[in-house]
Amino acid sequence: MAIREIVIFPDERLRLSNSEVSEFGPKLKSLTDDMFETMYAEEGIGLAAPQIGINQRLVVIDIPDDNGKQGENQLIMVNPEITAVSDNQVESEEGCLSVPGYQDKIKRFDKVSVSFQDIEGNRHSMENVEGLLAICMQHEIEHLSGKLFIDHLSRLKRDRLKKKFGKILKDRQSSKE
Ligand code: NI
Repeated sequence: MAIREIVIFPDERLRLSNSEVSEFGPKLKSLTDDMFETMYAEEGIGLAAPQIGINQRLVVIDIPDDNGKQGENQLIMVNPEITAVSDNQVESEEGCLSVPGYQDKIKRFDKVSVSFQDIEGNRHSMENVEGLLAICMQHEIEHLSGKLFIDHLSRLKRDRLKKKFGKILKDRQSSKE
């Protein structure tokens, strides 16, 4: 297992299209192991493959239990799709490992139904998922369409963030040269 580097906004790799996962085997298993390890290292509850520079339709999620402990609720979603949403929306305070240190309130559906494959390629669906898991699924599955939670904010806020994180990204890239 290895901790991968997180791709930071406004890196264009977060905006690329993501291909369907078609190979289900040890490589996929080791990739998801790395995704969980990277997510835990960064204290996240969800991570999408494009966030580590892998442009494939793959998400890992682990919602903490009541004591804040992770590890019991690991969920791997391969080729996930949202199949239905509720009429109601809720306000959700979100952050993203690709926009480090920034949080803001946006609107999400309070319930969603999803379909996806597991690591062996078996198909699953979950109906009327609610709470933090529903929010997290919407956030992570959006990553697979090249969308970030900050895209829901006003243009003014987004432009400010782009400026701020553009500088951080530039410094990061030049320190590697
Ligand atoms: Ni995110």
